[in-house]
Amino acid sequence: MKARSASFLGRCALALMLSAGSVGHALDLAAEVHRCDDCHGPSGHANVLPVNGRIAGQNEDYLVYILKEYRAGHLAGVNAAAMTYCVRQLSDDDIRMLSHYYAHLQ
Ligand code: HEC
Repeated sequence: MKARSASFLGRCALALMLSAGSVGHALDLAAEVHRCDDCHGPSGHANVLPVNGRIAGQNEDYLVYILKEYRAGHLAGVNAAAMTYCVRQLSDDDIRMLSHYYAHLQ
């Protein structure tokens, strides 16, 4: 369990480093989605690890709410900590765009 969480964070840190060179803070949606898909599976279907949760087709308002909760560090547990780490640099606009994208995937 511990080792798996460490590799979550490692992958996430790598993705963040790779995206750090982008201009300003304009979200590159394609790159961001690719990063999410590392853990949530292609198209957000959670077929990488079930613990990650299915995010495709979720309610858009729920996604906005829960991503802000993760970003704020309000959710407890080692899995939530991985998510907090992954979304901590997203702006409100980024979260809205990602939520819209995933809510409309089947
Ligand atoms: C390093 C792996 C990893 C990455 C990358 C990642 N997530 Fe997650 N995500 C998780 C895990 C693990 C959970 C379950 C956390 C928990 O149990 O609280 C989760 C939970 C979620 C949830 C809550 C699902 C639910 O059913 O309540 C949403 C929404 C979500 N992630 C969206 C995203 C988005 C959007 C991105 C890209 C910005 C992303 N995640 C990137 C691992 C990841």
